Amino acid sequence: MADGASAAERGFVVWIEGLPCAGKTTISRAVAERLRVDGLEVEVLDGDEVRRMFSPELGFSRKDREFHARRVSYVARMLSRHGVSVLVAMITPYETSRQAARATVGGRFDEVWLRCPVEVCRQRDVHGLYRRAATPTGGKITGRDDPFEEPLNPDLVVDTASDTVELATGKILEHLRGRGLLPPLAPA
Ligand SMILES: Nc1ncnc2c1ncn2[C@@H]1O[C@H](COP(=O)(O)OP(=O)(O)OP(=O)(O)O)[C@@H](O)[C@H]1O
Ligand SMILES: [Mg+2]
Repeated sequence: MADGASAAERGFVVWIEGLPCAGKTTISRAVAERLRVDGLEVEVLDGDEVRRMFSPELGFSRKDREFHARRVSYVARMLSRHGVSVLVAMITPYETSRQAARATVGGRFDEVWLRCPVEVCRQRDVHGLYRRAATPTGGKITGRDDPFEEPLNPDLVVDTASDTVELATGKILEHLRGRGLLPPLAPA
């Protein structure tokens, strides 16, 4: 590697996208735990929490969502350049935001789409978002009232309606190994 650091010593960014309740928080935390066990420094930049801290003045228009994603990708890039691996768990409904994040971070970027049918997401409804959106005064929901553009260029697609959290986590880790972002497993 040109800068003399091994793959294990340098950070990377995994951008985990998908509909509300697709499993982004659950799976990013599970992946983070596994990476920490392996000794990596890891940060999870998770949806609403990051939005509250980075972009409290922004709404959910296309322009605002793209601007917020730009802020997050810039911070993710900075962290990863200092050896911290970053898991971004964000709906990221627009392809332009995904492409901009990839361009901002550079080569050590991996885009994972947690694909899950909206009916399954609605049944999970961890935050009552779908329930509220179904009421006359309820809010909008991405994937129904606002678009969720199908990702055109994800590095990995994981189907969280059929794969368990454990299986999905394992697939992501294996994929990161395959890309050389994680060192290969030592032989048993
Ligand atoms: N295979 C699976 N992968 C991920 N989550 C699953 C799976 N099966 C069931 N679940 C459950 O679905 C819910 C997913 O909620 P989670 O908060 O992770 O979604 P999210 O994508 O972060 O949503 P939001 O966009 O609202 O933040 C959790 O309660 C989780 O336990
Ligand atoms: Mg979440």
